Amino acid sequence: MDKMDKEILFSRDAIGRRVQEMAGQISDDYQGRELIVIGVLKGAFIFMADLIRALAIPCKVDFVRIASYGAGSESSGKVVLTKDIETSIKGRDILLVEDIVDTGLTLTYLVNWLKERNPNSLRVCAFLDKRKRRKVSFEADYVGFTIEDGFVVGYGLDFNEQARFLPEVYILKQEDVEVKE
Ligand code: PRP
Repeated sequence: MDKMDKEILFSRDAIGRRVQEMAGQISDDYQGRELIVIGVLKGAFIFMADLIRALAIPCKVDFVRIASYGAGSESSGKVVLTKDIETSIKGRDILLVEDIVDTGLTLTYLVNWLKERNPNSLRVCAFLDKRKRRKVSFEADYVGFTIEDGFVVGYGLDFNEQARFLPEVYILKQEDVEVKE
């Protein structure tokens, strides 16, 4: 990781400020209600931990894990659920939390799958959004930062399981991504 050539994209302060703003908006939108916040493992766990601690409303938490089969950094669209939620969401207000929307395939699958369980409402909150990479049309309800194409790590996001622990978000130099994929 030390040898990975990277540039800072969002500092701890910038992330902290944006997460507070998002939590404020969500708290306003769900005033007087209790949310069930569902995080998509692994990437979302750090963002979700910060987000829920900044909410002014109560919530319960749960997690799903999905496997997306594809080569290198590209997901193929073959999304398989490998860990289900353990909470009944029927009639509940659900906030699905992701670290990043890229092609949109993962969230499209997850939203359809959760809707089959008849929640009262379902919204998606994504920390990062690479809008230009969509393969299917997908709009998150809350987005932290919209970013250009490029491989980003830190704040939960990994590259070959490295760098999730970094408190900032970095963009990797393309040569590094190509060599190590
Ligand atoms: C990443 C990210 C999303 C998905 C987004 O997960 O956390 O789940 O890819 O890509 P898409 O919009 O193209 O479907 P990844 O498979 O890297 O797993 P991780 O969360 O365990 O790092």
